[in-house]
Amino acid sequence: MNILLLGSGGREHAMAAKIAESPQCDKLYIAPGNAGTSRCGTNVALDNNDFEAIRKFVLDNGVGMVVVGPEAPLVAGLQDFFARDEALNKIAFIGPSRQGATLEGSKDFAKAFMQRHGIPTAAYRSFTRETLPEGIAFLRTLKPPYVLKADGLAAGKGVLIIDDLETAENELHNMLENAKFGAASDKVVIEEFLHGIELSVFVLTDGEHYIILPSAKDYKRIGEGDTGLNTGGMGSVSPVPFADKAFMQKVEERIVRPTVNGIREEKISYKGFIFLGLMNCGGDPYIIEYNVRMGDPETESVFPRISSDVVELFNHTWNGTLDRATLKTNPQTAACVMMVAGGYPGSYPKGNIIQGVENVKGSLVFHAGTKRDAEGRLLTNGGRVLCVTSFADNLEAALAKSYSAVKEISWEGCHYRRDIGRDLM
Ligand code: AMP
Ligand code: GLY
Repeated sequence: MNILLLGSGGREHAMAAKIAESPQCDKLYIAPGNAGTSRCGTNVALDNNDFEAIRKFVLDNGVGMVVVGPEAPLVAGLQDFFARDEALNKIAFIGPSRQGATLEGSKDFAKAFMQRHGIPTAAYRSFTRETLPEGIAFLRTLKPPYVLKADGLAAGKGVLIIDDLETAENELHNMLENAKFGAASDKVVIEEFLHGIELSVFVLTDGEHYIILPSAKDYKRIGEGDTGLNTGGMGSVSPVPFADKAFMQKVEERIVRPTVNGIREEKISYKGFIFLGLMNCGGDPYIIEYNVRMGDPETESVFPRISSDVVELFNHTWNGTLDRATLKTNPQTAACVMMVAGGYPGSYPKGNIIQGVENVKGSLVFHAGTKRDAEGRLLTNGGRVLCVTSFADNLEAALAKSYSAVKEISWEGCHYRRDIGRDLM
């Protein structure tokens, strides 16, 4: 079968590497991909938002399965576009419908869904410009810190956590009256602050059955000790030591099962990944958010641990037979360290020459923002440039391997966090 994978990050490189391993995969196309994915298949210059171009490519190239990496095409309705087209609707499609993607695309929708299905989450209320005075009054009933969230997609920047009431009131005003996050903040969710430690759990569902993939923890801030600006993610480890059997049983009973049951009961068309952003509050899991895709850089530590044939898992997902699938995983720990361009997550240069990747032995290098020039040299082409994932019997050893591999790689201004996973040891 020919497979088309959409996306261009480290997540997609890690997915492409697994898909390419499958005996069921004939040709793998990655659109648009990066310099790393071109080693797993063929990169094609397709704009993920140009549905007609995707349609033409799929039909011209006999693609039998489409796997969607990022959320944007899903939120824009790519699955629905396939479902209503006679020529496309028999093609296996891994990713939810637009309605399903609203679990990520609208925080208000997601919170209401959690509430309808009794899924533990922070108490909340939503406000619009018309109800700004009620929003201010609600803030005054809460204890700090205050959590304000733009309802819509805001490139990971739409969540504000504020220590004092006056700033919180001003920011609520800015979001609702001054469109601080554009249309994404036409509606704002205000919620209770949860104290605890975060982790990510990934689920693959056919809309009725599910399998739970390995857990992971990511490191979002640019600076060591979780300081400084938020980034796309600076590293990840899998599994998460505190996500033991007892905790994961609670996650399954209280969060995964009611989520999948809710999707089924509400007749939401959903065949794809669910990313649960969780908080462990004293041993009890609460859900902070849903995403409708895999995480990045969590995928770079989760996917290499999957030893089952992922294309077979995707076939089960498409056919509604995930109850017959078994997930095999590598019990070792995987640790991923992200290397970023100097200046990221602010402005940063592109086109610096990357050296030393070929010297890395015994670790995996996943590319994110990379490309090759006409002479075949590897260049930086984004903020998050590439990451190194290593396996070992324990977290300490996996991290040591990754950090020693990172030292082999360099370019002008390259930066990485030196404390990935340290909080867990
Ligand atoms: P989100 O985009 O919803 O994942 O929020 C971004 C980050 O804000 C999360 O990863 C958490 O670190 C933090 N956060 C969001 N909601 C809460 C909450 N209710 N309590 C504590 N931290 C939160
Ligand atoms: N690592 C968090 C995300 O992918 O949203």
